[in-house]
Amino acid sequence: MFYLTTAIDYTNGSPHIGHAYEKVLADVIIRYRRLRGDEAFFLTGVDQHGQKVQQTAEKEGVHPATFVKRTTKKFLNLWDKLGVKYDGWAETIDDRHKTCVQGILTALKDQGQLYKHAHSGHYSVRQEQFLQDRDRDEAGNFGPEWGEVVQIEEENWYFKLSEHTDWLKSYLDATPDAVLPAFRKSELLNALERNSGTDLCISRPKERLRWGIEIPFDTDFVTYVWFDALINYVSFAGYRAAPDAELPDFEKLWTADERPVHIIGKDILVPAHGIYWLCMLHAMGFPDELIPRLLVHGWWNMRGEKMSKSLGNIVDPAELADKFGVEALRYYLVRDIVTGKDSDFDVERLIMLYNTELANELGNLCNRALNMSQRFTEGIITRGGIFTDADLALQTSLAESTDAYRAAMDEFDVSKGLEALGRHVGHCNQYAERMKPWELNKDPEMKARLATVLQHLAESVAHCAVLLSPILPDAAAKLAAQLNLPSLTEISLSDLHWGLIPEGHTIGKPKPVFPKILVEEKV
Ligand code: ME8
Ligand code: MG
Repeated sequence: MFYLTTAIDYTNGSPHIGHAYEKVLADVIIRYRRLRGDEAFFLTGVDQHGQKVQQTAEKEGVHPATFVKRTTKKFLNLWDKLGVKYDGWAETIDDRHKTCVQGILTALKDQGQLYKHAHSGHYSVRQEQFLQDRDRDEAGNFGPEWGEVVQIEEENWYFKLSEHTDWLKSYLDATPDAVLPAFRKSELLNALERNSGTDLCISRPKERLRWGIEIPFDTDFVTYVWFDALINYVSFAGYRAAPDAELPDFEKLWTADERPVHIIGKDILVPAHGIYWLCMLHAMGFPDELIPRLLVHGWWNMRGEKMSKSLGNIVDPAELADKFGVEALRYYLVRDIVTGKDSDFDVERLIMLYNTELANELGNLCNRALNMSQRFTEGIITRGGIFTDADLALQTSLAESTDAYRAAMDEFDVSKGLEALGRHVGHCNQYAERMKPWELNKDPEMKARLATVLQHLAESVAHCAVLLSPILPDAAAKLAAQLNLPSLTEISLSDLHWGLIPEGHTIGKPKPVFPKILVEEKV
């Protein structure tokens, strides 16, 4: 079983383009795995506790529970709109999650992994954490990224993180795919050099924060939001769940033959996932072969600047989808960023990439293949005559593109997969230019040749529809319907050999699938 999760999004605000990217990326990967024939489970959800939520709810004069229900709805609506289809939905206010978190806390305490201690120091309200000297900038100050920093002293519960960091180093050294892409692992190892020796504060006194999961053995405290949130990956997978909890069977989901993958942004690798979470799992008794892989993606920036509420440059993904279409947005999000790297969000590039790669290149191929088949051969696809070198070259191009697509997608590199697909589409359009089916149609002697050329184009469209289906499920389904193919859910990658369209098959009525986005002229 392939178990894939994403970060769970903070519900202290509205979903933005970074959230949309991560969930679409996960959705594409899960759809691809199903196309490959793998059993797969996709969990995503929302992070509903913590100081930020409490503060924002207070500002708006509502109870945090009311507030998070409202914001959670925005995320649910967006995933529905964008065609992000998950199998499990995590909400950290869910009682089943709370029970799991409290069970883990109690077990760790019984094992001597937790202790109470009074700490005095600088605390970042924005980041909800105590700061260390290493968090100071060169001038010795806590920089603006920490927001308001206050001096506080308080008693809290601590997790013996430092007992696990040597293990973490050796695990990371021994496990090539522990963190992907590889350069992120180096970042984590460097951070670990600086970080070892400190333990993790996992509670907050109720005077300061009420909106959290109560520490079961010390009810004046709630659980630190990160400790709570990270556990979603196991709690909603059925870890320690009651038999009637209606959660998956943990042993089936969380396996060693295909270790779980967590998709996260670069900002939450260190320390949350790369250090805290892996050490928490180790302390909980997870063996190395059950430690999840971390797939770390980059960030969408706005013209080189970080996206942020205070800069007012946050893009609303729902608005973009309404304006340009869901398919255009999904395509842009996974096409214009290399998994792992950062990218600049630019609506003009969204339009340009859609119009050139989909409306022009692929749209052109589809229209040619389907319209000409309809007009010249009554929609009947036949092998025609003998294959020429040009035909064989097209078949080779398709096989090579498909292999390259698979290799890239296996490595979670969707952009590279789409590039591979684009190479074949380009090849097909050049082939059409050279073979000129519209000329062949004028010559009754060339009927067989015409059929062969159109078969090559239609066959290519069929393969493209299948390969595109994880990225653009709606467009792919439309293409499959126009080709009169069986439902795409019944086709798997292993069916993709030449001859996907059976000899003598009749295609359906063509209709453009990628209408061009028309840009209003600026006056
Ligand atoms: O960090 N581009 O929630 P979050 C790409 N609740 N990805 C971005 C992004 C951007 N501009 N901005 C944010 C949290 N992200 C925690 C996670 S997991 C147990 C708890 C990504 O709403 C970010 O990197 O701030 C993270 O992976 C996800 O969106 C949620 O961010
Ligand atoms: Mg964040």
